[in-house]
Amino acid sequence: MEKQKPVVPIVFSACLLAAAAHAQTAPAILTVHADQPVARVSPTLYGLMTEEINHSYEGGLYAEMVENNTFRADWSGFPGWYLVEDGQSQAKISLDSTTGPSRQFASSMRIDATSASASSPAGVLNTGYWGMALHPNTVYRGSFYAKDDSAAVGPVTVNLVANQSGKVLARAVVGDIGTEWGEHHFTLKTGAIETSAANHLVITVTHSGTMWLNLVTLFPPTYHNRPNGTRIDLMEKLAAMHPAFLRFPGGNYLEGDHIADWYDWKKTIGPLVTRPGHPSPWEYWSTDGFGLLEFLEWCEDLHMQPVLAVYAGYSLQHEHVNPGPDLEPYVQSALEEIEYATGSPETKWGTQRAADGHPQPFHITYVEIGNEDWFDKSGSYDARYAQFYKAIKAKYPDLQLIATAPVSGIRPDVLDEHYYLRASEFFNDATHYDKTDRNGPKIFVGEWATREGTPTPNFGAALGDAAWMTGLERNSDIVVMASYAPLLTNVNPGAMQWAPDLIGYDALRSYGSPSYYAQVMFASYLGDQRPAATIEGAGTRLFYSVTEDSVKKRLYIKLVNATSDPRKIDIKLIGGALEPEGRLVLLSAQDTQATNTIDRPVNIVPVEKALRVTEDTLHYDAPAYSIQVFDLKLR
Ligand code: AHR
Repeated sequence: MEKQKPVVPIVFSACLLAAAAHAQTAPAILTVHADQPVARVSPTLYGLMTEEINHSYEGGLYAEMVENNTFRADWSGFPGWYLVEDGQSQAKISLDSTTGPSRQFASSMRIDATSASASSPAGVLNTGYWGMALHPNTVYRGSFYAKDDSAAVGPVTVNLVANQSGKVLARAVVGDIGTEWGEHHFTLKTGAIETSAANHLVITVTHSGTMWLNLVTLFPPTYHNRPNGTRIDLMEKLAAMHPAFLRFPGGNYLEGDHIADWYDWKKTIGPLVTRPGHPSPWEYWSTDGFGLLEFLEWCEDLHMQPVLAVYAGYSLQHEHVNPGPDLEPYVQSALEEIEYATGSPETKWGTQRAADGHPQPFHITYVEIGNEDWFDKSGSYDARYAQFYKAIKAKYPDLQLIATAPVSGIRPDVLDEHYYLRASEFFNDATHYDKTDRNGPKIFVGEWATREGTPTPNFGAALGDAAWMTGLERNSDIVVMASYAPLLTNVNPGAMQWAPDLIGYDALRSYGSPSYYAQVMFASYLGDQRPAATIEGAGTRLFYSVTEDSVKKRLYIKLVNATSDPRKIDIKLIGGALEPEGRLVLLSAQDTQATNTIDRPVNIVPVEKALRVTEDTLHYDAPAYSIQVFDLKLR
């Protein structure tokens, strides 16, 4: 948790916690039987769900700074790219469909510099994903594929330039590029500059001639210094959520609008110059620079289990592949995808993974078959699921297979359910899983969110989320995994397709919403078992969850007061005693509409207070609109 206010020791007893006396007179009584565990809590309860939406990777987590780096052209030209004619230079740019650096990129940008010199360079500039964030004294590494028509074009200059001043903030010169396609690397180092995202990249030549360009990359330092890696600030925010798993690559992104647009993972691996990219259902092109191996490495970096979703023959425009022979290529692809992720380097696809730079296999427990297949009104999912299930179980009997809709015939190991609701609906549904049949499939709440606030959830949404999470924790014997969605959004105008999203960012900054902090709190304080607990006199919109860490001997009590009044709560501990030292983590706001924004990122953050437990019954006044966790040590 970031930017916490100073820890304040308080005495956790009736005398000190007597504020807000106008709350209901009789306290609610939460009785916890510390010596009576009644259910196990899933160690994988909290995780992440991700897909390419809201510029989650392109202009988001994927640290690539160059927008449209493979020069896709439209009616306006090359989005993100502009002609540079400095001084007296003259040049033009065009799409050349006759030459490119690879089979996948058979075209390129052609730059005809009809007049260029050292004092009047010509070329192109790229504005990045809503800017390019630059920090002082920092190294940026990049590359491009290029060729020229003759050695006369001379060296290529790469500059990082400040938008407002036009000042060159870092410069690199790439020697002669030659008349055959080749990859050229450069390094740019900033000096004592001001941190800002108002910058752009300029690539120019100083002699007349023709140059062809494609696949321009530029990376800042990345998380764990991975080449082709991820943004550090976002990864740190995700790490603070202690996620146990990552569900990827979608979501709708897995399916595509049409069958032809499915997530064909084989096109997302290997050198970037062999990844053609594909249209995503979320209205913008995916370069697949962030591909299957990058997802897996993301899991590795944050110690998350991959929950791999495989395309199961249904796409969003109500198109499906008939079960049987038509579906078989997709089943084979799924088997190969699992082998790519988990196979030893002796297997065909494990060999490929090793060649791609990761000899060590990844460990996978869960594979999800499709996404939201309840949308498939043809009724084909039963047979499609069965075909995948049989083939995968035959080769990988230990894998747990997730169905995305109820199926008949085969009992899925796990059922993925999605809930996008208002806060009031989550308050009313917080007991949703209390009566779920324990003999049925396990439950994965693979997407859920309180949909209030934009671009990120407000505090009212965080209250809905927290209320819902108390129900997930209480039922975590059957609810084995849960993941909020969507996770990420670029907050720049036009970047977002779906609101709200847990974490917002622009090129330079990022922030957690109140819902994000609720997630951090719930995942940071989660035991491995649930002791018996009851509440009396709770009234409306007061929610609780109690879990116990049997190894660390800690008791975590979560209380959510979703009302506009403070609430008195007595917490009675039976069958155990507490050490005097404890901790309270409190997230609260004055109004449901209160929120965090990119410009005011820490309006609402958890505050930690040291507690001193002096009585067997803890008397507590929960502030209005509050989410709190007690972290208590059992003797
Ligand atoms: O999270 C946004 C979308 O909601 C997901 O892509 C899809 O699975 C669901 O309908």
